[in-house]
Amino acid sequence: MKILAIESSCDETSVAVVEDGKKVLTNVVYTQEIHKLYGGVVPEVASRRHIEKITYVLDAAMTEAKLSYDDIDMIAVTAEPGLIGSLMVGVNAAKTIGMAYQKPVIMVNHIYGHIYANYLESDFLFPLVALVVSGGHTELVLMNDHFQFEVLGETLDDAVGEAYDKVARVVGVGYPGGPILDKMAKLGKPTYKLPHIKLAKDSYNFSFSGLKSAVINLSNKAKDRNETLDNNDLAASFQDAVVDVLVSKTVMAATNYNAKQVLLAGGVAANSGLREKMQEAMDQLKIRLTYPSIKNCTDNAAMIAVAGYFQAKAMK
Ligand code: KG4
Ligand code: ZN
Repeated sequence: MKILAIESSCDETSVAVVEDGKKVLTNVVYTQEIHKLYGGVVPEVASRRHIEKITYVLDAAMTEAKLSYDDIDMIAVTAEPGLIGSLMVGVNAAKTIGMAYQKPVIMVNHIYGHIYANYLESDFLFPLVALVVSGGHTELVLMNDHFQFEVLGETLDDAVGEAYDKVARVVGVGYPGGPILDKMAKLGKPTYKLPHIKLAKDSYNFSFSGLKSAVINLSNKAKDRNETLDNNDLAASFQDAVVDVLVSKTVMAATNYNAKQVLLAGGVAANSGLREKMQEAMDQLKIRLTYPSIKNCTDNAAMIAVAGYFQAKAMK
């Protein structure tokens, strides 16, 4: 089954064709660099860019895959969550092609897409615990089978990626902040004392706004006193606090639910500190850990095609 997928929930316009949930025939991703000028995604600018680019990205993908729309069996499109104006561009494109070529259109949840990005590179073993960490979401999800999702916990305030991006803005290192702070953290040591917020002992929920505020306060106080902070050490301290919380909650969930696999999903799954510390923890527990290759961690349409494939199978 060949699925054409469209992703336009935030600042990536992407089109992919994936065969049987596994074989990527094309995965074209256009990233809107313009948001770097503003230090964050501007929703109106994002939807306008999607409108301008969607036809080109569709054409590029179909040309690369050497396919016509007649060869496609189904269309999958990100329907939620995301920026409403941006989502609409992808959904309208999907519905238009579906109508013109008489193909079924399936509405896919973006988070499920991030989880299924892992399937492009490895199979799933159930029960499975997924740690979804992106710019908009932070969730621990339990899966007992394909396309069965139980949210065990989620952030009560900021998403991890959001906290990275805000801290990066305060430190003055550009957007998106996650990859930049990750690189800086490798050059520094966690010398600053920051809160590792774990909430109630048995809670699977997260909170990152206190940690973010602690970094911002530290930075502002230093400015007032004309002191300079070591930004690499600050990045290392921040990353240490984030990773410690993420790993300890994931370990708790994996242990309590007898997980056979833990997977990382979403943009922050690219984080080197998180990958390293989670690997150490899962090696100790003898639980398989998977995470997508860097290019499949951030938003792309191939992951939406895979989620669409399993969604269609679950609906049968
Ligand atoms: O999944 P994604 O592409 O978009 C959303 O669905 O939100 O995630 C983007 C987020 C951004 O906040 C970015 O700073 C973060 O992922 N990110 C990282 C790294 N690479 C991307 N955060 C920490 N370390 C990284 N290496
Ligand atoms: Zn995403």
